Amino acid sequence: MLALIGCVFLGSVAEAEPVRQVLSLNKGWSFREVRGDTDFPGQRIHGWTKREGETGPVDMVALSQPGAVFAPDQWANGASSTKGGFVYVRAETKGRTMKAPELHFFGSNLECEVFLNGTRLGRHIGRELFVYALGAAWRADGPNAIAVKIKSGKYDGSLGEVRLVDAENPEMPATSPVNPVFDDASWRRVDVPHDYVVEGEINKTGEDGYRRYQAWYRRTITAPEALPGRRVWLEFDGVYRNSRYWLNGRLLGGHGSGYVGRRFDITDLLAPGANTLAVTLNPGVAEGWWYDGGGIYRDVRLVVVDPVHVAHEGVFVSATVPDPGDGKTAPATVAVSVELQNRLAAERRVTVRFEILDPKGETLAADSESLLFAPGETQLRKSLPLARAALWSDQTPVLHTLRTRVFDGDRLADEVSTPFGIRKIEFDAERGFLLNGRKVVLKGVCLHENHAGVGIAMPRRLVEWRLERLKSFGTNAIRCSHNAYSPDFYELCDRMGILVMDEFRQFGSGYPSKVDIDTEMGPDVLADVAQQVRRNRNHPSIVIWSLCNEEGKVQNKPRGAELVRIYKDLVDRLDGTRPTTGAVVGGFSADGVCSAVDVVGMNYSIPDYDKVRARFPGKPFVATEAVSELASRGFYDGQPFQMKPNEPTLFGDKDRGHLGAYPGNFPGWGASSEDGWRAIADRPWMAGYFVWTGFDYKGEPTPFKQPAQPSVSSYFGILDTCGFPKDSYWYYKAWWTQEPVLHVFPHWNWPGKEGVEIPVWVFSNHENVELFLNGKSLGKKSMPRNSHLKWMVPYAPGRLEAIGSSTKGPGMKTRVETTGSPARVVLAPDRARLKADGADLAWVAVSVLDEKARHVPTATNLVRFSVKGPGRILGVGNGDPTGHEPDKASQRSLFSGYAMVPVQTLEQAGEIELVAESDGLAPATVRLAAESPRP
Ligand code: GAL
Repeated sequence: MLALIGCVFLGSVAEAEPVRQVLSLNKGWSFREVRGDTDFPGQRIHGWTKREGETGPVDMVALSQPGAVFAPDQWANGASSTKGGFVYVRAETKGRTMKAPELHFFGSNLECEVFLNGTRLGRHIGRELFVYALGAAWRADGPNAIAVKIKSGKYDGSLGEVRLVDAENPEMPATSPVNPVFDDASWRRVDVPHDYVVEGEINKTGEDGYRRYQAWYRRTITAPEALPGRRVWLEFDGVYRNSRYWLNGRLLGGHGSGYVGRRFDITDLLAPGANTLAVTLNPGVAEGWWYDGGGIYRDVRLVVVDPVHVAHEGVFVSATVPDPGDGKTAPATVAVSVELQNRLAAERRVTVRFEILDPKGETLAADSESLLFAPGETQLRKSLPLARAALWSDQTPVLHTLRTRVFDGDRLADEVSTPFGIRKIEFDAERGFLLNGRKVVLKGVCLHENHAGVGIAMPRRLVEWRLERLKSFGTNAIRCSHNAYSPDFYELCDRMGILVMDEFRQFGSGYPSKVDIDTEMGPDVLADVAQQVRRNRNHPSIVIWSLCNEEGKVQNKPRGAELVRIYKDLVDRLDGTRPTTGAVVGGFSADGVCSAVDVVGMNYSIPDYDKVRARFPGKPFVATEAVSELASRGFYDGQPFQMKPNEPTLFGDKDRGHLGAYPGNFPGWGASSEDGWRAIADRPWMAGYFVWTGFDYKGEPTPFKQPAQPSVSSYFGILDTCGFPKDSYWYYKAWWTQEPVLHVFPHWNWPGKEGVEIPVWVFSNHENVELFLNGKSLGKKSMPRNSHLKWMVPYAPGRLEAIGSSTKGPGMKTRVETTGSPARVVLAPDRARLKADGADLAWVAVSVLDEKARHVPTATNLVRFSVKGPGRILGVGNGDPTGHEPDKASQRSLFSGYAMVPVQTLEQAGEIELVAESDGLAPATVRLAAESPRP
């Protein structure tokens, strides 16, 4: 959780000096994609020879002696192995004098044990960069032999680039972007969050149609004018992926995962004044099977702290509520643990003061502790009772704050504010999920964090807007499938009262998309899991951890249980206040993942719910993933087809790659929205479920594949990639909320189909619905609970009208009408007043009306946009899963009558004017006020 800035007041002089500075580095990067080799510091080691298929033991110590060879005829050139087993590689290089010789290994796979001149340097598991300092093993005056034993996993074992670097004095060609003198004047200027993959063309055969290249980012960092002894941290919230970082030509490190952040203490490498930060990344090998973009796509910042400070993510606060009483207020005990660091050379007298503040900022409880703090680290724990506290829930998301202040003597040295919630969560085998003692059915959705127009680079307001959309149809829970989301996401869920299943999917090491049976948990993924838990454990919105997703090879085997227990132990040690689950599919064996987690998590397999429950008596139960219904928004044309003879019959247009928006399209493992919800609603012991998915996302266009069909994004969403609702939105809204709903579909523009029977569906929570065509009743039907109504209506142009009635309250009327052709463009922003902070945005819906001001649901007009004033178009989209038009553009054609154009402010107040024009139609103009943030 982001630390907030504190101020100190010295004596009577109110001199505001921040004790912990947070400086955004989001603006002003230089960027370039690279298609080929780049120059890195140091000397590349060439001339590797290899030997594979070895059956007996190989003496690595002997092999790494200069001049050593084993049966030279068995060695071949190169350094990669075939699948499985071991390969042994070696190379020799001349000696030379270096201050701090290091070997840098880039992109090796998967397990490498490295020896130099008979000395074992270490063993590394994973694909990310690793470094060994060579110390005394390096011979400045003689040949040096490097030998590596590589174990491959499911994929080929390989040794990537290996470089010999003098860490204290790295040789850098001027052509290397890590070199401060490198000229990047020709590079593009960009701000982060930035996804460069979404800027590309969709022109490739494959899941999402985008090509991916390596890229570089560079930026000057001005060293903060820090007091002597202060520490400076460089923090990246998310870089996709396989990233490496250099400061002034010195390697800071690398990171494999694209979903968990990376941070460095750069104090000792920071020079006064300007410093050059260079980052390279390569999203070429995907971490998952969906669109995951590429770039520095989350926030970057510097944090400056006093030498005596709270450790990074070092605050952990949780509350126990023995009796939640009325579910609104109750006595509670707040447990606080704070990790402190003293980075000075001397012992200090330190006082730590803890205060719990209510939502208005009033102190509810306080405590403090003084200690003699030797250089190093320590941990303090406190327990603060509260006689009466407002409880956090999905209905009343009340946030308290723990303020932790660290005094070095009398001087305020650090201050961290940590928002948290006081609530009681229980997963129960009979009653499902209880929040503050009251049953709450998890009406959840799974997501992937990408959106039309921006890809993975989602500004905070867009994250918030998406959550608002999900709440609007009754979603109360989100599963972070299948990875850590942005810090903004969790903060917003805390504030908006959304329950979260946080997830880490990666088993094994090296971030494979799926693991093997003999996988080991590598230090890379374990470090990332620890980081995710430490970062997220204070969020009251998170009510459960999911430790895996569908690891086919191991999930139903004892090995899967063993692996999950490693995660569970880690999570319990770092958190311990929430239960764990694992998303398992198929089998659900008694000795696999389900046996090792607290709550059984099932993906799909509705017919097995009761059977699997009986297999795990006494264990609570959640449907981690369900439904996977497929639809192109607003598309109702087509016919039944099968992708393959044994696969389910779908309805749509196979060649064009569209699936009908009538319910009932789902893959073999899925279910309809209706069957999915009824399976939960009928089982009170279920904690709830998570529908796949809330929004469509780029990639995974099941069941279609290019080039046979042009599809490039998924069809699973209740909302499309832009956030426009599909018809199932109203099914969920009808049964997940108490709001009256009456929704009739399809549209009523079917020229040429006069007299042909068209299925007309109604989603509603009214007790009865009567349908009329051009004023003539087609019958009144009573609505079955958690279901829908359907009429077969011979088409005649005109007005299709539904009237809903209920004994409990007033009824509703709704209609769809045959429209004329488009006459004018309309722009509908979600908000008209924005913050002029360079980040805030208006999500603007684009549509067209006919002469009688009726929305034309079949329109496909191309609309062009222009902006005047201090704003910019963030991207465009229309929710068409087959659309190949670019997302970074100032025009878009409508799909089923809609497109989207989010407009973002600049850091300048004023009026933003957005104009939308389309050939032959009256244009539209909308004005947005960009207002200066209040001081
Ligand atoms: C699941 C998987 C998801 C997604 C979904 C599509 O098996 O966990 O990531 O692929 O299927 O239906």
